[in-house]
Amino acid sequence: MSQPDGQSNTLDNLLEENRTFPPAADFAAQANATAELHDRAAEDRLGFWAEQARRLQWDSDWDQVLDWSNAPFAKWFVGGRLNVAHNCVDRHVEAGNGDRVAIYWEGEPGDSRRITYSELRDEVSRTANALTELGVGSGDRVAIYLPMLPEAVFAMLACARLGALHSVVFGGFSSEALRSRINDAEAKVVITCDGQFRRGSAAPLKANVDEAVTDTPSVEHVLVVRRTASEVGWDADRDLWWHDVVDRQSATHTPESFDSEHPLFILYTSGTTGKPKGILHTSGGYLTQAAYTHNAVFDLKPESDVYWCTADIGWVTGHTYIVYGPLANGASQVIYEGTPNSPHEGRHWEIVQKYGVTTYYTAPTLIRTFMKWGAEIPAQYDLSTLRVLGTVGEPINPEAWTWFREHIGSGRTPIVDTWWQTETGGIMISPLPGVTSAKPGSAQQPLPGLSATVVDESGTPVGRGEGGLLVLDKPWPGMLRGIWGDDQRFRDTYWARFAEQGYYFAGDGAKYDSDGDIWLLGRVDDVMNVSGHRISTTEVESALVSHPTVAEAAVVGAEDATTGQGIVAFVILRGGSGEDAGGDTAISTLREHVAHEIGPIAKPRQIMVVSELPKTRSGKIMRRLLRDVAENRQVGDVSTLADSSVMDQISAGMKSGGDD
Ligand code: PRX
Repeated sequence: MSQPDGQSNTLDNLLEENRTFPPAADFAAQANATAELHDRAAEDRLGFWAEQARRLQWDSDWDQVLDWSNAPFAKWFVGGRLNVAHNCVDRHVEAGNGDRVAIYWEGEPGDSRRITYSELRDEVSRTANALTELGVGSGDRVAIYLPMLPEAVFAMLACARLGALHSVVFGGFSSEALRSRINDAEAKVVITCDGQFRRGSAAPLKANVDEAVTDTPSVEHVLVVRRTASEVGWDADRDLWWHDVVDRQSATHTPESFDSEHPLFILYTSGTTGKPKGILHTSGGYLTQAAYTHNAVFDLKPESDVYWCTADIGWVTGHTYIVYGPLANGASQVIYEGTPNSPHEGRHWEIVQKYGVTTYYTAPTLIRTFMKWGAEIPAQYDLSTLRVLGTVGEPINPEAWTWFREHIGSGRTPIVDTWWQTETGGIMISPLPGVTSAKPGSAQQPLPGLSATVVDESGTPVGRGEGGLLVLDKPWPGMLRGIWGDDQRFRDTYWARFAEQGYYFAGDGAKYDSDGDIWLLGRVDDVMNVSGHRISTTEVESALVSHPTVAEAAVVGAEDATTGQGIVAFVILRGGSGEDAGGDTAISTLREHVAHEIGPIAKPRQIMVVSELPKTRSGKIMRRLLRDVAENRQVGDVSTLADSSVMDQISAGMKSGGDD
């Protein structure tokens, strides 16, 4: 089959890559993962997962590993009971590891906190007691709109402890985005802070919550962490300071047991429509996959490693590989509040040196940024403690991979390129350090116990050297259990395309190389990947047309050397929008408008005012052609356009300017 739209360049680059990096013998000798793990899982997949679930402490055992009789609604470890927070916190204290540091927290201005597992237990217990006082109980929803503060972790675990679902909303989302997520989940409490330190100054955060909760009937309280000591608006009936409510609570809280399928959290992610999907995850299966993958993929040695995942807890990577996986495994980890260039471009390496970080998990877009800043920056620091590097969120180009290994990993560390999604809950495809001969740019093989296949449009597996669509052909423990409040959308989005085969359609294009290794080629739907963040074209289009000057909008993700993709918008303005409607000020107003509607991450890189958009006779916008324009390529086949001259006009407009 043909390659997914717009991916041909990536594919060409990847095809040139044929280096392999076998594991070093000394690493392999001590690795958690072994080649034999694949065989064991292949022989008895469910038995393998039962073994992995034994990493956790269950209050009652399960009767059945998997119930798939009501597909696509899976049940894992049926009948088993556990408390997720107890597994991530208390049991490590009970095992005698209370003095081990759970979190080395580093604030952007240079302040820091060390939190041991005993202290974490106390904090989580206090927070759980406070939430109980605020009326939060099992099954309730709590929205968490916090930057990278320890309280974010306490709040998530306190919800888990009470059986309440958290819905963490990334702090970079706007008040509009926050409001729609609060309303969709009908959250009872919102947890936020006064402000956050970013790029050397205090930026307000609570103001966004104040704006959001003007129209959220479910919200009874807003709990506010004091971080920047900035002035904030205050509603005495609704708002409470964290230090007033949490600090006075008892540090003792007895966790209750919940069913393995008890909901754990909702996390919103972009789909192909304007409305974000509330991805629902549950307890036992999710935590099993989180703990197992974190142990195998990062080769975690909890007694000696210092692990650092640079994601934000507002994304799934922060959920699974900052909170649940590492804490279930009793890891010591760094959490950093700020940006990588505050106050200087060596900040991450300074932190690696300060804490002796051994494991560093980040996004390719950040690696490309480090490359731009120059290799002489990391060279000034002692990075010799690093022993495993990882990437996530987008395909990593071989140049970035080799730079990462050379300049951060001293030319010796394994790199794990981990493919997964909000929906999968945990890593699905990744090299195993110490086992796999790594190939720069390939996520390679599904992990033991997990299964993925590349198929053609009809669902038939493609051969080696061929490309197609990535599907997950067997249920897995961390899989989403649905879309909050919308079972039909869950079926339609993921299960309808290959209904006959019962495959989960991931939305990604992929290919097999001649060894059968998987190379990810990017999304095949209308979802963009900007700096590893998922943003739907439709969502940005809806934001643009909600502005009074815009009549119609089409948005595409165009290749971008640093961010992977950049957002390019084509807009048709309303008649009478004024002379200067297409001018610089008007365009910057539209960019700001998108930031207000969704968040700064969704601001288009470029907005072009056009008089027509390319549409098929049935009225569907042909984004493929717009992407050709945005990426300065020869415009492809226009034969299905209702009016084939439209592309000439747009290309001509592009050449004569229109850039902002
Ligand atoms: O397109 C794939 C890309 O990110 C999408 C999932 O985005 P999200 O749910 O936000 O989760 C990101 C963090 C897990 C996927 O459909 N993606 C993620 N990891 C990789 C990747 N693409 C290529 N290689 C990866 N390692």
